[in-house]
Amino acid sequence: MADKLNVIVICGSLRKGSYNASVARALPALAPPEMAIKSAPGYDKFPLYNADLQAVGNPPEVIAWVEAIRAADGVVIVSAEYNWSIPGPLKNAIDWASRVKDQPFKDKPVAVQSASPGLVGGSRMQYHLRQALTSIDAMMFGKPEVIINFANKKIDEKTGEIADQPTKDIITQQLAAFAKFIERVRA
Ligand SMILES: Cc1cc2nc3c(=O)[nH]c(=O)nc-3n(C[C@H](O)[C@H](O)[C@H](O)COP(=O)(O)O)c2cc1C
Repeated sequence: MADKLNVIVICGSLRKGSYNASVARALPALAPPEMAIKSAPGYDKFPLYNADLQAVGNPPEVIAWVEAIRAADGVVIVSAEYNWSIPGPLKNAIDWASRVKDQPFKDKPVAVQSASPGLVGGSRMQYHLRQALTSIDAMMFGKPEVIINFANKKIDEKTGEIADQPTKDIITQQLAAFAKFIERVRA
């Protein structure tokens, strides 16, 4: 049997009780059989981006993150929305990676998901993330979109499990379509 597609998931929230982290943890069980999903290394220890620091050398945490993205067949980003946009720590990580030699997002298939207690479920962040990643030549997956609004009603605070079947269904559909998208990009 061919090797499974190696997909990594990056969570855009650093909060312990994060809804988005709960969704990220649920992905392996919702992935199609031909896809294996594991967590990307952390980016929470990255310094604030400064080209002078990078000129001295990329921090080891940045190198580990970049290498994991480079080695992956695809990346899923599950993120919170902060002030209608990308949370600063995640944007900082993308900025570091974007300026590494042979930056890892070039031609990389990327799917986006978001969860928020709010009405529009982080969708504004999704469009900013698409814009930023398109600027560095990522191959952005289109539809179906996974936009989890009213996340506080759909994710069990105590267990961290997704407690809403339609949410699980749309994630399952997106991951199946993302597997096909990765194959098309690779062909
Ligand atoms: C700095 C900040 C800005 C926020 N801005 C938004 C926003 O623009 N849209 C939104 O839907 N929720 C916003 N929220 C609320 C988050 O959606 C909420 O805190 C959510 O739980 C964050 O995701 P997490 O649970 O994965 O950490 C904001 C929260 C913070 C801390």
